[in-house]
Amino acid sequence: MKIFIDTANIEEIKQAHDQGIIDGVTTNPSLVAQTGKSHKDLIRDICRLIKKPVSAEVLAVTEEEILEEARILAKIHPSVVVKVPLISEGLKAVKKLSEERIPTNVTLCFSPNQALLAAKAGATYVSVFMGRLDDVGHSGIDVTLQCHHILTQYGFKTQILGASVRHPYHIQTLAEGGVPVCTAPYKVLTQLIKHPLTDTGLEKFLADAKKSDI
Ligand code: G3P
Repeated sequence: MKIFIDTANIEEIKQAHDQGIIDGVTTNPSLVAQTGKSHKDLIRDICRLIKKPVSAEVLAVTEEEILEEARILAKIHPSVVVKVPLISEGLKAVKKLSEERIPTNVTLCFSPNQALLAAKAGATYVSVFMGRLDDVGHSGIDVTLQCHHILTQYGFKTQILGASVRHPYHIQTLAEGGVPVCTAPYKVLTQLIKHPLTDTGLEKFLADAKKSDI
């Protein structure tokens, strides 16, 4: 499974990249706003740091404006994947961008039917927001697995991307279910590494090794 980091924080990207655990980066307007940097500069900096797909989101909501913004973002670097909202105008833009071979990440997907339409329009990735589904009493895991099942059943090239990941169990269930991609904040990636038995085991090994040195 590909693991992307969901952040616009360069230091977090660098840390995860150095650990060798990430296959790409996703950003969104809320994450970019936290950095105080210009969108284009930030995406350029991330693309220079990591030679892997970097999702950058458009703010436009009409087909023409989405296309205009998407083409500008795509010109920043060949690694850019343009994030487009899952709305009617967004699907029209995704169809055109797919014809232009500009990769897309269709975002704010909350249902299997929405994912099916994004795949038909030619999306490269469809981001299903698991945590936000959980927040409103649905199962983000079930919806994401349903989306993946539908796309694989019909042989779409579009990859389901589990997003809005809030805890390690989200990632484990995606991996068990064969979902090709997930994106997670740095905090959750750090939680994946840690296990209390690893820490206590290491502590004991080091203590025992010290005793034998004496
Ligand atoms: O980047 C999209 C998504 O991962 C956002 O997550 O935690 O704001 O619902 P969250």
